[in-house]
Amino acid sequence: MDKTVVSLGGSIFAENMSSYLMNIINLFKRKESYAIVVGGGPIARERIDFLRRLGATEYHLDKMGIHATRLNAMTVSLALGNSMEIPRTIDEAISILHEYGRVVMGGTEPGHTTDAVSVLLAEAYGADNVLNVTNVDSLYDRNPKLSGAKKIAGISYTELINMITAEKRGAGANFPTDILSLSIAMRSNIKIKILSYKDVNNISRALDGMSFEGTLISNVNE
Ligand code: UTP
Repeated sequence: MDKTVVSLGGSIFAENMSSYLMNIINLFKRKESYAIVVGGGPIARERIDFLRRLGATEYHLDKMGIHATRLNAMTVSLALGNSMEIPRTIDEAISILHEYGRVVMGGTEPGHTTDAVSVLLAEAYGADNVLNVTNVDSLYDRNPKLSGAKKIAGISYTELINMITAEKRGAGANFPTDILSLSIAMRSNIKIKILSYKDVNNISRALDGMSFEGTLISNVNE
């Protein structure tokens, strides 16, 4: 079976340890092997906003964000019944994967997000897929809040990079992935699958390599 890395968006923590998170924990508790990278969510955003107003450097704000991602990763790891430490680098994560067959981690170093970490981990692990489990159910052709926004079921790396570069959605554009992650995925032909954390059956299907609701980002147009 194809190897997969899961990028779990920190926004799942916005819903106060919601049933969505519990469903995902229950899903992975049944798995022997997994690699999960957890995002920072509200705790990262709130602390970063607060410290930015006080003049902290962007480098240190990233460090703050990394701490938040590791806090969330520790929460997920312990909820899954693991007792190992949260790795601080991709290399440490790979060692843990080889030893235990499973790993949960957060961020690594300043300058990128956990989306990039998940694609780098996929490269190092030889995984073919990254499941980007997030707070939107798909990529849309424009800001999903605008009327007439249509879901995109499949898109190539280059098309999406061009779309993000053109900032089609204007100020405050928030895509579920970023150019760095797409570039790394493209060079190693790692498929990125965007799907909502609200539908655990859909996540389970995607993990099993079956068809799923969401967006497939790969080297071909669909
Ligand atoms: P996230 O990966 O959650 O960032 O890391 P994000 O993309 O802003 O959040 P979502 O996906 O929209 O929910 C939180 C913050 O931690 C820092 C960055 O500042 C990031 O914005 N971070 C994270 C790093 O600097 N390096 C890492 O490897 C990971």
